[in-house]
Amino acid sequence: MTLYALILFIHVVGTFFVFGGMGLEWLAVGYLRRGPDRAELERWTHLAAVASRFYGPALGVVLFSGGYLASKLGGNQGWILVSFVTLFVIGLIGLLFTSRRVRAIRKAASENAFSGALQNRLRDPVLVASVRLRLALVFGVLLLMVSKVNLTSSLITIAGAASLGLFFALPAWRRLPVHGAKTVS
Ligand code: HEM
Repeated sequence: MTLYALILFIHVVGTFFVFGGMGLEWLAVGYLRRGPDRAELERWTHLAAVASRFYGPALGVVLFSGGYLASKLGGNQGWILVSFVTLFVIGLIGLLFTSRRVRAIRKAASENAFSGALQNRLRDPVLVASVRLRLALVFGVLLLMVSKVNLTSSLITIAGAASLGLFFALPAWRRLPVHGAKTVS
């Protein structure tokens, strides 16, 4: 087996972890919005935190292995450049919009479970929108990986993925029924 094949294998395995981590995060923020009881709150906030620890390093592995593969392929290829930038944007969205919020939820939950402020944080639409947008962008990059198109087509592909992500993110701002929240004695 060549080194290139081994790094490509690591690259693809890294992407499995990225998809897995984002899937777990989607699941966790979805359940947190539904007004969990105390045990569920602990479970799902833990899962949301674990998910980002899971796919954060995986993004790094994908980036470095992708960088190695790109250096071996050579040339100034549009799909590589756009994927590279998009991966950074994905990481940045997670860092700016999700990580802080999940940390704040864990802190609020440990201090005073089921305060009004905590309920608002659990229902924060940005949590759902962020994971949907990032997942759409990852699928966009996956499409670039297999199509290997030029710069213009790559930009159109990512713009399309971002638009789809935003389209699926918008329902997160739908008003949730208040009776969904459970109380804990
Ligand atoms: C989460 C984002 C990413 C996913 C899901 C992904 C997925 C994949 C997949 C499935 C392949 C195998 C495709 C094939 O052999 O036809 C691949 C190959 C490759 N990826 Fe990525 N990748 C991602 C990010 C990146 C980034 C950011 C870069 C550049 C820094 C990159 C550079 C490459 C290169 C150069 C190849 C080798 C293509 C070849 O050998 O023909 N990837 N990627």
